[in-house]
Amino acid sequence: MDKLVSSWYKDQSLPESYIFPPHERPGKLLVPRCNTVPVIDLGDTRTNLVHQILKASQEFGLFQVVNHGVPPNIMSETMSVFHKFFELPAEDKASLIVHTNDPKRCKLVTSTLDYDREKIHLWRDVLRHPCHPDCIEFWPQKPLRYREVVAACSIEAKKLGLQILELLCEGVGIEHGYFEHELTEDLLLGANHYPPCPDPSLTLGIPKHFDPDILTILLQEHISGLQVLKDGEWIGVKPIPNAFVVNIGYILQVISNNKLKGAEHRVVTNSSDHRISVVFCMNPAGDSNIEPAKSVVTATNPPLCRGFQFKEFMDNFYSMDGDADLALQPFKL
Ligand code: OGA
Ligand code: NI
Repeated sequence: MDKLVSSWYKDQSLPESYIFPPHERPGKLLVPRCNTVPVIDLGDTRTNLVHQILKASQEFGLFQVVNHGVPPNIMSETMSVFHKFFELPAEDKASLIVHTNDPKRCKLVTSTLDYDREKIHLWRDVLRHPCHPDCIEFWPQKPLRYREVVAACSIEAKKLGLQILELLCEGVGIEHGYFEHELTEDLLLGANHYPPCPDPSLTLGIPKHFDPDILTILLQEHISGLQVLKDGEWIGVKPIPNAFVVNIGYILQVISNNKLKGAEHRVVTNSSDHRISVVFCMNPAGDSNIEPAKSVVTATNPPLCRGFQFKEFMDNFYSMDGDADLALQPFKL
């Protein structure tokens, strides 16, 4: 792996290896249409919520939630901890820049885990680790309150995610509690840092992708960058104070037998501000069986794929350079 982008971005123009092919570049449309992404007030009645969340998940695959009950101080302290983390001197972060396959370990990388093999690098650094209590001993020890604050936030994120999954189950017609155990056993944290970029029109923080999980709960600040693809058009996800962004993962799309739509999204950079986002990915246990839920499969809506283990899908996902559609291909019927 190379040096973190945050350690050299000030010193040079955009290197060739960060330039995307013309059809993938954001170009001048850095800030496209905004405001159309649904914002859902979780204080609404259950009937309304089931309807709204289902509609948002079918039309966009992505929505924002407000009035969700997660204490605002937990959200702001989490962002503050990650700002402090990414500002730490290189020596403090060095021990986390690891080349290990141990899934319990914390990993700090620039671009992706595949830096040495990938053709084009992403304009970001990212810290990843599992949130399971057994893994806390591997979490960063600096800044001082990291473990306390991030543990509190991950508990809230999981609670919120399960609440949303329950509403989705009701909407789609999947039995209560379907996602409660194995299918959401592994909560993974990813903290992205996108430093100011010398030419945002040519590069990306993250190119178009589906999250290969069940559900992603994302925390961002007042800096834009996240965009969702809707009817062939990129739409900006406008930052709203104290909101979480929720997106339907590819595996949830599979389990719903395409009744819910995974969100294709990307991140653009900007030339003036650091942007930090924190994502909590709700992942199945590696050996759990993924298949279209029996209750959504009918004669007129036959299963789109056979059952498979989540880890089989993830192996394909990595070997297909993060293309979820290709990763599913071998299991399709
Ligand atoms: C991701 C992602 C969006 C963002 O980490 O998978 O899509 O706003 N992040 O950083
Ligand atoms: Ni994503």
